[in-house]
Amino acid sequence: MSEWVIGNVVQVKHWTDNLFSLIIRAPIDPFVAGQFTKLGLEINGKKIQRAYSYVNAPKNRNLEFYLIAVPGGKFSGKLHAMQPGNNLMITKKAAGFFILDEIPSCKYLWMLATGTALGPYLSILEQGDGLERFDKIILIHAVRFAKELSYLPQMLKLQRRFNNKLSILTIVSREINQGSLTGRIPSLIKDGSLEQAINLKLEAKNCHVMLCGNPNMVHDTQQILKETRAMQKHFKNSPGHISTEHYW
Ligand SMILES: Cc1cc2nc3c(=O)[nH]c(=O)nc-3n(C[C@H](O)[C@H](O)[C@H](O)COP(=O)(O)OP(=O)(O)OC[C@H]3O[C@@H](n4cnc5c(N)ncnc54)[C@H](O)[C@@H]3O)c2cc1C
Ligand SMILES: NC(=O)c1ccc[n+]([C@@H]2O[C@H](COP(=O)([O-])OP(=O)(O)OC[C@H]3O[C@@H](n4cnc5c(N)ncnc54)[C@H](OP(=O)(O)O)[C@@H]3O)[C@@H](O)[C@H]2O)c1
Repeated sequence: MSEWVIGNVVQVKHWTDNLFSLIIRAPIDPFVAGQFTKLGLEINGKKIQRAYSYVNAPKNRNLEFYLIAVPGGKFSGKLHAMQPGNNLMITKKAAGFFILDEIPSCKYLWMLATGTALGPYLSILEQGDGLERFDKIILIHAVRFAKELSYLPQMLKLQRRFNNKLSILTIVSREINQGSLTGRIPSLIKDGSLEQAINLKLEAKNCHVMLCGNPNMVHDTQQILKETRAMQKHFKNSPGHISTEHYW
């Protein structure tokens, strides 16, 4: 059984009509960058809970979550209405294995996200621990519209901090945006545009790919990587090249 503590909302950032970030203070146990926790609310007399990834580095005591208010969603709509000073429930312990300790040795680490699933990567990069072993990290954020690139300023800051070690790329699927690729991750891998934009080959011999977010993206991208790059899903007892986290 999870142990719950009270979290206090200290800030809400509204990025678009339905994208927002919650900043919470709560007496949680230490977590590992890349992990998620559960937030809970009592709705109509029933406790409802959902999983959310930490965006902040574990060393930062402002707990940050990047969310979309899913149309018709039971829980995310309630979080969308939160204001500074409101309380919610949060599990004391974090969970999940989408963390660097689970990534096998490789030269190039690719971090691919759709929508709100950028969070775990920002947490890992902001924390900065354990990244020495990679020659290069590639952070890719795929969204529908350019206005949804909420964390682009932070991505650019990280890129400056890591110098040539971190490459960032944005993908926008439903409009042309200068500076972003247009389309979806799997087709941009298939036709070579993603590698061309990063100037690096996506190869099984020296790359590991992390995929986070929309389960259809995770599925379709894995298929393409299997078919065209001879990459396999990574398991502890059967090492491969792909690690995944589904948001639904
Ligand atoms: C490990 C894990 C980490 C997660 N981290 C986050 C996070 O950091 N931020 C976040 O916004 N959500 C995250 N989610 C999703 C979150 O737990 C909820 O499912 C989401 O907030 C919708 O809840 P709801 O009750 O409003 O919608 P529900 O009534 O439960 O409806 C769910 C439907 O909404 C859609 N959906 C759910 N989540 C998303 C999403 N993030 N983006 C696009 N469509 C979605 C899907 O179509 C899904 O079938 C995570 C889920 C998991 C399993
Ligand atoms: N973003 C909005 O403005 C908006 C508005 C109203 C409602 N919603 C709802 O909110 C939820 C979340 O929306 P979201 O935009 O954050 O997340 P999303 O639907 O997961 O889209 C994020 C990115 O993932 C891409 N994608 C979707 N399926 C894919 C696949 N199989 N392979 C590769 N890429 C794929 C999308 O491309 P495509 O654009 O090609 O699908 C988009 O670029 C959805 O239920 C959506 O219906 C969103």
